[in-house]
Amino acid sequence: MKIFLDTADVDDIAVVARWGVLDGVTTNPTLFSKVGGSYDDVLRRISGLTPGPVSAEVVAADVEGMLSEGRHFAGIAPNIVVKIPMSEPGLAAMARLKAEGIRTNCTLIFSANQGLLAAKAGASLLSPFVGRLDDINEDGMDVVRELVAIVETHGLDTEVLAASIRHPRHVTEAALAGAHVVTAPIAVLRQMIAHPLTESGIEKFRQDWDAVQGA
Ligand code: E4P
Repeated sequence: MKIFLDTADVDDIAVVARWGVLDGVTTNPTLFSKVGGSYDDVLRRISGLTPGPVSAEVVAADVEGMLSEGRHFAGIAPNIVVKIPMSEPGLAAMARLKAEGIRTNCTLIFSANQGLLAAKAGASLLSPFVGRLDDINEDGMDVVRELVAIVETHGLDTEVLAASIRHPRHVTEAALAGAHVVTAPIAVLRQMIAHPLTESGIEKFRQDWDAVQGA
């Protein structure tokens, strides 16, 4: 399973790239609003930090607007993937961009049927939002499980990207569900690294080593 970082923060992306676990990045308008500046510049810098897919999200509501923003993003770097919300214009834009050889990530997916349609329209990534479904008392991971089964059963040329990840257990469950990709904030990746027994074990080894040196 590939691991993407869910952020527009270039410093955080550089940190995770150094860990050797970074397969790509997802951004959205909310994440970009936290760093500010020029979205193009941020995307250019992120694309230089990872050879993997970097999702850049359109904000236009109509097909022509989505196409225009999407073509612009795709021209910034070869690894940019155009993120388009699930909707009627979104499906049309994904189909047109696919025909032009531009990869898309269908975002704001909350049901397997939405994901199935996005796959048919040519999206190369399908982003079911796990955490936001959990927030309304549904099991967000069910959509990941169903979409993975549909993609695998029918040999669809797309990948399921588990998004809206809130905690490390979501990552484990996405991996067990067969998600091809998970995108998570750096805080969740740090929670995945940390374990109290690892930390106390490191401290005990250091103390025992120091005791021998001092003897
Ligand atoms: C990623 O592609 C999504 O935009 C992101 O995971 C949404 O996460 P949120 O529900 O925490 O905003």
